[in-house]
Amino acid sequence: MMKAENVSVRIGRKQILREVDFLAEPGQVTAIIGPNGSGKSTLLRALSGEIPNVGRVTLNGHDIAALHPWELAAMRGVLPQSSAVAFPFTALEVVRLGLPGGLADGDDALPSRALAHVDLAGFEPRSYQNLSGGEQQRVQLARVLTQVWSSVRRDRPRWLLLDEPVASLDIAHQFTVLRIAREFADQGGGVVVVMHDLNLTALFADKVCVLSNGEVWRTGAVSDVMTDEVMRQVYGIDLPVSTLPATDVPFILPQALV
Ligand SMILES: Nc1ncnc2c1ncn2[C@@H]1O[C@H](COP(=O)(O)OP(=O)(O)O)[C@@H](O)[C@H]1O
Ligand SMILES: [Mg+2]
Repeated sequence: MMKAENVSVRIGRKQILREVDFLAEPGQVTAIIGPNGSGKSTLLRALSGEIPNVGRVTLNGHDIAALHPWELAAMRGVLPQSSAVAFPFTALEVVRLGLPGGLADGDDALPSRALAHVDLAGFEPRSYQNLSGGEQQRVQLARVLTQVWSSVRRDRPRWLLLDEPVASLDIAHQFTVLRIAREFADQGGGVVVVMHDLNLTALFADKVCVLSNGEVWRTGAVSDVMTDEVMRQVYGIDLPVSTLPATDVPFILPQALV
């Protein structure tokens, strides 16, 4: 279980998250949605233990503030929204950063497998800096997968925390990445993912948490959360939500610029 209780984040004079309660269960994909600037990345970073916060975050029952960095690293992998790499690394070297021994670790089999998994077989020697944005994003995902490849370890679920993992990907690679995340959850791991595309979220998430202005506006099943009312209140747009006939999965199809 990943749990945030009463989590608030203030940076300088700005209150970025306000008394957020959040719960994600292993075996499920939990999506965080909300407008730009609503605090999604900040919540993900608080959940991952990367920024100090008021309140309590627990991961598999452990208060993350009390865990050593290597204990956290064994339990969860984090894909940030953007990752600049300051050194002239190859794709393989970036992925090897996910190994327990980091770059010094001699194991190339797992990183290569991870690259192939994100459809980048053969990209090992390529310069990271010269890859396209979408390729770089998939290299970063391969790094995270290398860190937490098996979704369960010593009977405890492991966690993938992904910040907009499909934002710069073409539609086929969006599905590649979402399938990897789904598979991780199906094998008993936990996935918490920040998403913008509401239709993909509806297809793929088990549970959705909607943020607005640093607060949780609503949490629930996709069909409880993706409604005309929530779209209007949170995004300020009048776009009717329809449902796919056979499954009741909600979708939004804009038919004109409104
Ligand atoms: N380090 C920071 N210093 C000042 N303001 C920040 C910082 N990080 C985030 N913010 C602000 O907090 C708000 C939420 O940011 P973020 O969590 O990145 O939003 P989202 O991911 O939902 O787009 C934004 O208004 C952003 O400008
Ligand atoms: Mg963000």
